[in-house]
Amino acid sequence: MDHFLYRDGQLFAEDVAVSEIAAAVGTPFYVYSSATLLRHFRLFDEALAGMPHQVCFAMKSLSNQAVLKLLGDAGAGMDVVSGGEYRRARAAGIPGDRIVFSGVGKTVEEMRLALEGGIRQVNVESEPEMEALSAVAVSLGVTVPITVRVNPDVDAKTHAKIATGKSENKFGIPISRAREVYAMAARLPGLRVIGIDVHIGSQLTDLAPFEAAYRKVAELTEILRADGHSIERLDLGGGLGIPYARSNAAPPLPSDYGALIQRTVGHLGCEIEIEPGRLISGNAGLMVSKVIYVKSGEGRDFMILDGAMNDLIRPAMYDAHHDIVPVIEPQVGVEPQPYDIVGPVCESGDTFAKQRMMPPLAAGDLVAFRSAGAYGAVMSSEYNSRPLIPEVLVQGDQFAVIRARPTFDEMIARDTIPEWL
Ligand code: LLP
Repeated sequence: MDHFLYRDGQLFAEDVAVSEIAAAVGTPFYVYSSATLLRHFRLFDEALAGMPHQVCFAMKSLSNQAVLKLLGDAGAGMDVVSGGEYRRARAAGIPGDRIVFSGVGKTVEEMRLALEGGIRQVNVESEPEMEALSAVAVSLGVTVPITVRVNPDVDAKTHAKIATGKSENKFGIPISRAREVYAMAARLPGLRVIGIDVHIGSQLTDLAPFEAAYRKVAELTEILRADGHSIERLDLGGGLGIPYARSNAAPPLPSDYGALIQRTVGHLGCEIEIEPGRLISGNAGLMVSKVIYVKSGEGRDFMILDGAMNDLIRPAMYDAHHDIVPVIEPQVGVEPQPYDIVGPVCESGDTFAKQRMMPPLAAGDLVAFRSAGAYGAVMSSEYNSRPLIPEVLVQGDQFAVIRARPTFDEMIARDTIPEWL
């Protein structure tokens, strides 16, 4: 469910016509709906209502500070995976005690930043990281709450590039070695073991892999408690999938997911933490783009847009499907036609969709990529020297540019030509 609907033949973002935003900021751009973001956050919050809990938004999916502030004001914490994300979350006003630090390669500098600035917990992913964190904590004279991320060796049944819970993936420590790693954590100074962390992958559309992983975590909780560790908090990661195509079967709801958590780990009396990204931000954003040309090829027509793979890389990178809809609602009775929908970047990978049925469009018409709020703007680049596209936030009938489009001069001025050239 989102707030991007046609009204009087025009696509709206809440109460603002998408064409009005396009006229004000130019294309391409991202637009996010505050109501959708908040609604999705609250669905998770309510799904865990029966247990002490904290929802930490995986800000890697959408990290604009305006979005972080909106969610933070509603009570969200943040899951960060870099010093940059930590700084961004703090700049958006998120208190340190609502920030969890995940990631397989935290540097000593990043650890110091988090420990000095305040952190809810660090999710440790390896023994060398644990030693480094202990040394940083001791040097600062603090004790840092930690969980250890365990790899439960569960097949998340998602795209190979975004599955993380199989033993061949780089994430976490094998669950079979958990006892020795927790024993090591208990011995090291500056660390306080508070729980267990697990995250098995992203865009999961079936609850069974979560169930398998969470049952293993429940079992491990009992074992570690018997070993004398204090396991008070379970960080169960993110990963619940969203419907990318209108035609797809609906994935499980946050309420189903909450019931599963209750069923698998609820009896342990732990505080529950989850790190959803995509389900909160994915369907809360559109990428809006303009048709530059419609070109007839050999046996196929190409719709060439001003948005490209550098602006939204998911189709090129994961063969991901995004629904693409015209901003002006097609008239009843207009026959859709197949188009290859592409960007202007100079490689064939810059293809958003092949033989997609669309109403006939002409140069200057606007289209919107649905479900583009997660892993859209954050993964964009300036490939082909195309400046990063702006982000806009809508709330009711108001909208604001929350990241401006840089000028060409700003983009170009970042390079330096050495004196000796
Ligand atoms: N927690 C951890 C430790 C993660 O690694 C991730 C995602 C999440 C939470 C949030 O997962 P979510 O709820 O958003 O599924 N760029 C890819 C997705 C990469 C996901 C990486 N980790 C894409 O566009 O599909």
